[in-house]
Amino acid sequence: MLKGKSILLGITGSVAAYKSIDIIKRLRQEGASVRVIMTEASTRFVTPLSIELAVGEPVYTDMFKLPLSHVSLPAGADLFLVAPATANCIGKYAQGIADDMLSTTLLAFSGQPGRVLMAPAMNWRMYENPIFKKNLDYLASLGVQFIGPERGSLACGEEGIGRMADIEKLLESVIAALTEQDLAGENVLVTAGPTREYIDPVRYITNRSSGKMGYALAQTAGRRGAEVTLVSGPVSIRPPEGVDVILAESSRDMYTAVMDNIPMSSLFIMSAAVADFMAAEPKTSKIEKKDKFSLNLLKTTDILEAVGRLKKRPFTVGFSAETGPRIDRARKKLAAKNIDMIVFNDVSKEGSGFDVDTNEVVIIDREGERKLPVMKKVEVAAAIFDRILELKGG
Ligand SMILES: Cc1cc2nc3c(=O)[nH]c(=O)nc-3n(C[C@H](O)[C@H](O)[C@H](O)COP(=O)(O)O)c2cc1C
Repeated sequence: MLKGKSILLGITGSVAAYKSIDIIKRLRQEGASVRVIMTEASTRFVTPLSIELAVGEPVYTDMFKLPLSHVSLPAGADLFLVAPATANCIGKYAQGIADDMLSTTLLAFSGQPGRVLMAPAMNWRMYENPIFKKNLDYLASLGVQFIGPERGSLACGEEGIGRMADIEKLLESVIAALTEQDLAGENVLVTAGPTREYIDPVRYITNRSSGKMGYALAQTAGRRGAEVTLVSGPVSIRPPEGVDVILAESSRDMYTAVMDNIPMSSLFIMSAAVADFMAAEPKTSKIEKKDKFSLNLLKTTDILEAVGRLKKRPFTVGFSAETGPRIDRARKKLAAKNIDMIVFNDVSKEGSGFDVDTNEVVIIDREGERKLPVMKKVEVAAAIFDRILELKGG
C-alpha cells in the first residue's frame, strides 16, 4: 500500500521509543522507503544501531554532521511521522523552535496539509496539562494529525491516557493520509463472513467463508475516506482500524443489522456468505446421537433481494460465488435482485474464493462486464470502488 512512498520518521525520548523498530518494519513491509531522525533523548531509550539495523541505513541525529540534510531530507518526503512524539517535541513544533535535527527538519517540511502525523506518548498528567493541550490544539488547527494516545497502563505503573497508539493504527493512518480520499462523504455498509444457523445449542450449519473479501472492502473504503459500518459474521480475522463493527451470528441477526443501517448508507456491499438454509425447528437441547437423523431446512431471508425491493435503497452491490464458470447465474441475479452491480467469482478455482488472500472476479453492472486477473483481495476491493465511483459519477 505504500510502494513508492517516502516517509520521514522522527523518534523522540519516550519509553515507547523501542516500538519504532516495529513501526519501521511495518512501513517497509508495505513498500515505503523510510528515513529516520532521532532526538538525542531518544537515543537513551533505543540505540541508533538497533534503528539502523531495522531501517537499513544510517539514522540522522546531528544536524551539523551532514550540513543541509535538514533541508534535503524533507524535500523528498511524502509524509512526516513522529512516533513516539514527546510533549517536548510537540511543544517545540507548536512554538516554531528548531534547535536540533528533528525539530529543524519538521519546520523545513512543507508537505501537503495532513502530511505531518504525530503519535503522542507520555504520562497522563503531562497529556492533560493545559499547556500541552494548547500546543496540541494549535497544531491540530494547522492540519497536523494526531493519532492516539490510548488509555491503559502506562510505563510509570499508573493507569490513564498516554499510551502510544497501536502500531497497526499508526500504519492505517499513514496509509489513509497518503490515499486519495475519493470516498469521503460516503457511508458504506459492508457485510462479511459466514452466518451460523443453529440446529441445537451446540451445532450449526455454516459455510467456508473467511470474511477476508468483506474485510478488505471495509478497510479499503475506510482508507479512501468513507464512514464504514461492517456487519460481520463469525470470523477469526482482526477488524480494520477505524471501522464500526456490528457482530451478527445468524442470517436473522445479519438481516436485522443490515435493515437497521440501510437508511443511513449511501453504498451497500453484500459480500457475506449468508447461509441459504436454516433449521425449520432448532432444538433447545442437544439432539441425541442416533443411527439416522434427518433435518428439515427452511430457506433463510435473502438480504440482497430484500434491499433490492426497498423503495429507497443505496447503490447496492452483491457477490455471486459459484462453483464453476456459471457467470450466467450472476448476470441473472443482477436483474432479478434489482441491484446495481454483482461481483462474480468461481470459488472452485485456485487463488479465488474462500480463505485465500487473492480473488479472481468479474465485475458485472448495468453497463457491462470487467474481468479482472487474480489479484490480492485489497486490490479487488480497490477495483470495485473505482468502478462504483465511475458509475456514480455518471
Ligand atoms: C524514563 C523516562 C521516560 C520518559 N518518557 C517520556 C514520555 O513517554 N513522553 C514524554 O513526553 N516525555 C518523556 N520523558 C521526558 C523526555 O525524555 C524529555 O522531555 C526530553 O527532553 C524529550 O526530548 P525530545 O523531545 O527531544 O526527545 C521521559 C523521561 C524519562 C527519564
